[in-house]
Amino acid sequence: MSTINPASAATDAPARKADPCVMVIFGASGDLTKRKLIPALLNLAVAKLLPEQFAIIGYSSNDLTSEAFRVLLTEEISKFASCPITPEMWDWFLKRIYYIKGDFQNPEGYKTLKQQIAAVEKTHNISGNHFYYLAVAPRFFGEVVRQLGAAGLVEEGKDHWARVIIEKPFGRDLDSAKVLNREIKLILEERQIYRIDHYLGKETVQNIMIFRFGNGIFEPIWNRRYIDHVQITAAETVGVEQRGGYYETSGALRDMVPNHLFQLVSLTAMEPPTSFKADDVRDEQSKALHAIQIPPPEDVLNMAVRGQYGEGQIGDEHLASYRTEPDVAPDSSTETFAALKLRIDNWRWADVPFYLRTGKRLHKRTTEIAIQFKRAPFHLFRDTPVEKLETNRLVIYIQPEEGLSLRFGAKIPGPILHMGGVEMKFNYEDYFGRTPSTGYERLIYDCMVGDATLFQRADMVEAGWSVITPILDVWKALPPRSFPNYASGSWGPREADDLLARDGRSWRKIE
Ligand code: BG6
Repeated sequence: MSTINPASAATDAPARKADPCVMVIFGASGDLTKRKLIPALLNLAVAKLLPEQFAIIGYSSNDLTSEAFRVLLTEEISKFASCPITPEMWDWFLKRIYYIKGDFQNPEGYKTLKQQIAAVEKTHNISGNHFYYLAVAPRFFGEVVRQLGAAGLVEEGKDHWARVIIEKPFGRDLDSAKVLNREIKLILEERQIYRIDHYLGKETVQNIMIFRFGNGIFEPIWNRRYIDHVQITAAETVGVEQRGGYYETSGALRDMVPNHLFQLVSLTAMEPPTSFKADDVRDEQSKALHAIQIPPPEDVLNMAVRGQYGEGQIGDEHLASYRTEPDVAPDSSTETFAALKLRIDNWRWADVPFYLRTGKRLHKRTTEIAIQFKRAPFHLFRDTPVEKLETNRLVIYIQPEEGLSLRFGAKIPGPILHMGGVEMKFNYEDYFGRTPSTGYERLIYDCMVGDATLFQRADMVEAGWSVITPILDVWKALPPRSFPNYASGSWGPREADDLLARDGRSWRKIE
């Protein structure tokens, strides 16, 4: 593959600083703040995208003072920062960090918050813009928004804005997502709501749109005439770690599919938007999600596979089964693996299945989208066994590897006409170097400049749950009988292979 000079490549790196504002983090003493949010804000400061008039107020029920909160963050930052930190930089930051103790359900806390915001605004010369990051348990989402409304903390004016970032999971099925949307829309306008999905903060995910719509050569073949099927894999080697309590109420399907995997589906399947404006892009994503066929209950067992990891081995490490993990029931029927076959009912994708799989304790950590193209007509290679005929495949590597590869057939050198598969590869780091990132920078920055393109709209969330809820219902009604059904370190249960084998296909072999 010939190279381009990255220095000469056009860049859309945002140049303008974010608007002056106060960021309030609800649930500030939790993991997300120290692991992701503060390191991401630091990266934004290094990139000179944070304004001088900026401050953070942490809010949670833990008994801390602002000073103690600063000490806590100082102790942790070296563990989680993804860029080198100078004392001046950290000092700049600490001067802008505050903390107040408060309950999520008690109006008194919100009164104190209001006073604190006013004081902080005065100190830092900030003119009324606020955004609230809800890093709290999902049961508090509606409550916090209601309390913010009652305290008059989300009112907007001609010259100031108020926005709320809501973490996942947004609902646990279609009904609860609808209830939550209704609840928060009583207080907030849709334009104030930023439903975050951290997958959209990944460079390679954002690149899908550029790859498809910024190049002239892929779009003409991006359809049912040329594509045989699509495979999306999000595999993790880790188990549930210390999150057994949460995971038991969620399972792999809820945890990964209607959010992260459906983002990948919608970006792969959407029509070109008329512009990169937030609603133009999200309209097309939403249409693609709405076109996914909702499975009738009688089809669920044919199009969806679930699994749970048993004991196993990755490298030299012996791994315990899910049922022996902390906070997991010894007879748990929670799935740690899910695979689906989706159909997208529109002209572009009719008869092109999208196969999705995700799971914990799988053989290798990787997230990727593989576009499998149709075979070339056979007549020239009549004597070649079908399995030897190399098909064209484009793989978009999301993580940990970041890049693309295109596989095609080539003549193997020699006097006899033999064909072999070869690959062209593009690796992000080779071209652009490594940019320190937690994946949250772009999302936080976008909220601060009012760009909701990479956030989920209510209709997108509900479209996702519409597809998943019938599967959850059938799985609940018919508890699994074969769990655990895959060994840790494998590629999941045999039924996931059968899902594709029934269509004469197989999962891409990931080494
Ligand atoms: C989270 C899930 O949303 O995404 C986790 O709750 C999962 O269970 C994680 O491990 C995967 O994210 P990433 O960025 O590591 O692929």
